[in-house]
Amino acid sequence: MSKSDIHLVDDSGEIERQFRSIMRRLPGGVSIITAGNGEDISGMTVTSLSSLSTDPPRLLVSINKQASSFALIERYRLFGVNILGSDQQELATRFSNGRLKGKERFEGAEWFPGSSGVPLLGQSLATVECQVEEIIERHSHGIVVGRLLSFDLSHRLSGLVYWNGQYIEIDHDTDLDRLAEVSIPLAHVR
Ligand SMILES: Cc1cc2nc3c(=O)[nH]c(=O)nc-3n(C[C@H](O)[C@H](O)[C@H](O)COP(=O)(O)O)c2cc1C
Repeated sequence: MSKSDIHLVDDSGEIERQFRSIMRRLPGGVSIITAGNGEDISGMTVTSLSSLSTDPPRLLVSINKQASSFALIERYRLFGVNILGSDQQELATRFSNGRLKGKERFEGAEWFPGSSGVPLLGQSLATVECQVEEIIERHSHGIVVGRLLSFDLSHRLSGLVYWNGQYIEIDHDTDLDRLAEVSIPLAHVR
């Protein structure tokens, strides 16, 4: 895209109307944030999880204050992070279904309480227990900063991405093969 193709819109009404369309262009890794203890548990699908800092290791997630998990995170000061694999799309749909509440969302899923008591989902690419370091409330959301307490890493790598309003599976082996096919001829050109 050359500079002459760009028509910047600086109308604030138009920006508000188009904000979702802008953000739909950004592929987001899909995770489920879990929270609560015992029978009082819930969880929600998110794409806002990201790394805040590596030294010290901290992550952040932006959570709507209306979401039932937000109250649980505030109360227990703990949460679980479950990074979903390509075969866990059904879980992503389940944990964003407003008709299923609290513990109901876990029905049929493989889950167990972590050492802190927070529920964790088996078969995830990575599972982390976090203690809340800080919650920064801004507008409709709370930016939750997590300190890592424990983790489990799966050997699987095929991830799940949400992009343009749909789930996309990244098949690690197939996509690496495709990448190799594309990059070998390019390497010859150089
Ligand atoms: C792909 C996807 C990503 C989402 N990302 C977020 C997010 O980052 N933060 C957030 O607050 N809600 C996010 N949501 C919406 C929540 O999953 C949804 O509002 C939540 O499950 C509501 O829970 P509740 O009915 O228990 O209150 C996302 C939904 C989907 C489908």
